[in-house]
Amino acid sequence: MNENKNFYITTAIAYANGEPHLGHAYEAISTDVIARYKRLDGFQVKFLTGMDEHGQKVEKTAKALGIEPKAFVDDIALKFQSMLEMLNISNDDFMRTTQARHIKSTQAIWDRLLAKGDIYLSSYKGWYSIRDEAFFAEDELTTNKAGEKLTPSGAPVQWVEEPSYFFKLSDYGSRLLRLYETHPEFIQPDFRRKEIMNFVKQGLTDLSISRTSFNWGIPVPNDDQHIMYVWLDALTNYLSALGYPDESAPDFKAFWPADLHIIGKDILRFHTIYWPAFLMSADLPLPKQVFGHGFLNIDGEKMSKSLGNVITPATMVDEFGLDQLRYFLMREVPYGQDGSFSKESMVLRMNSDLANDLGNLGMRVLSMIHKNCGGILPDMGDIAGANKDDAGKALLDAAYGLYEDVNHAMEARQIHRALEAIWRVIGHANRYMDQAAPWTLRKTDFAAMERVLALLCEILRVIGIYVQMVTPSAAEKILDQLAVPHDQRLIEHIKSASLRAGSTLPAPTGIFPRYIDASAK
Ligand code: MSP
Repeated sequence: MNENKNFYITTAIAYANGEPHLGHAYEAISTDVIARYKRLDGFQVKFLTGMDEHGQKVEKTAKALGIEPKAFVDDIALKFQSMLEMLNISNDDFMRTTQARHIKSTQAIWDRLLAKGDIYLSSYKGWYSIRDEAFFAEDELTTNKAGEKLTPSGAPVQWVEEPSYFFKLSDYGSRLLRLYETHPEFIQPDFRRKEIMNFVKQGLTDLSISRTSFNWGIPVPNDDQHIMYVWLDALTNYLSALGYPDESAPDFKAFWPADLHIIGKDILRFHTIYWPAFLMSADLPLPKQVFGHGFLNIDGEKMSKSLGNVITPATMVDEFGLDQLRYFLMREVPYGQDGSFSKESMVLRMNSDLANDLGNLGMRVLSMIHKNCGGILPDMGDIAGANKDDAGKALLDAAYGLYEDVNHAMEARQIHRALEAIWRVIGHANRYMDQAAPWTLRKTDFAAMERVLALLCEILRVIGIYVQMVTPSAAEKILDQLAVPHDQRLIEHIKSASLRAGSTLPAPTGIFPRYIDASAK
């Protein structure tokens, strides 16, 4: 495979302090869709996800439950791994920050920053939020009616005074601004870039990067009184998975710098200020893009334990089906913006886009072939010549031309737009079928019926190839039912291969069931 066709994509690593929820599922699914798309487009992809297992928040939760932190995170990591499996996430690796490979890599990064002269020992005196795992200046906090100080995310803070190592972040402001200006694609969506630029322009203060008041973390090299600040630890995971500090490791050479860090909007500052500054200090190349997706709410309200509206991904998959949930989340929420889950809109998408538009198209075409052609794929004929079919030709052109719109949308991280483009062709195919009316041709012109059905199978092949990124199991069924060989399911095969007339197709089975409300009378 061509060297420059490598693609390294990551999700944030979730705090191992609670069970996975729909927000984690949303991030994993959207990253998976991009990773699958790049593989379909011929890229060698490395897709990393994992767990952020250190820090005060995890330690505090474990203690409150009376469990040793390591035993606690082991249990949570299993829960996240089974969520990934349930969601059919195609990650190539699962990083846990308690793993030896990560500890080694994080200590090596520390040594690099130290050797650069960017770390000094002093003491921290100020506010810390355990929930945000972040330090706050007085003027960033608000005070509620009860007189408690809160961070912008609404989390409480505590006063901390302890010896601490600092990173000279204040030295990096102008280099960071230059980065944002010369590489506008570095922070996406664009409106987020402006927020970060404004923040950096106000001036950066040095960052406390070690703690001494608890010990659930990676020890600072040569000073075991200190453990590293959990964000320095966590961000380094993206390097650890490639074999860092061994810069000659094959994965490091092939995949660093990362092409895309997918994260939620709440942790952009860590990824677009601290992370590039650490890498600059370590003289390592910078990731090409950090994309901050929006938050997922339930019926327009924030998910929270106190509102009692936290929905587990497993409940949704049980009720609606996995591919349905994946499709819904990717199609309904413009990527980068906040979105809301509601059962009504889920059922609408499930029944209209999936069951009616795509599922029925496949079923109608394949069952006609089964009933009328003995399950043998007919020939499309020469639709530009002897068997002239302008409408069929226009449909084929639209399907073969899909790449331009899909690729443009995917490169702009507009997953919903890519799906819209694919569904435009599905709509076009349904209209073509209704107009060509093969059920009528069956009686009047059997050969014409065969050509229409063959052409629609070709459209289904193209659609099936693209939808592998979003509804992988259903896509596999579609391609199996068309007898598309497994080694001809990439985008390049849309042009280089085609269906073979005369091949035997397996009996069709439904792909997308309609949602039937069990509670409806
Ligand atoms: N541990 C840090 C990330 C370290 S990355 C080096 C963290 N963990 S988290 O568990 O709080 O969040 C993990 C990811 O899930 C983040 O990208 C976060 O934005 C995302 N989400 C958490 N709740 C979410 C929603 N309700 N909706 C969408 N994404 C959400 O932050």
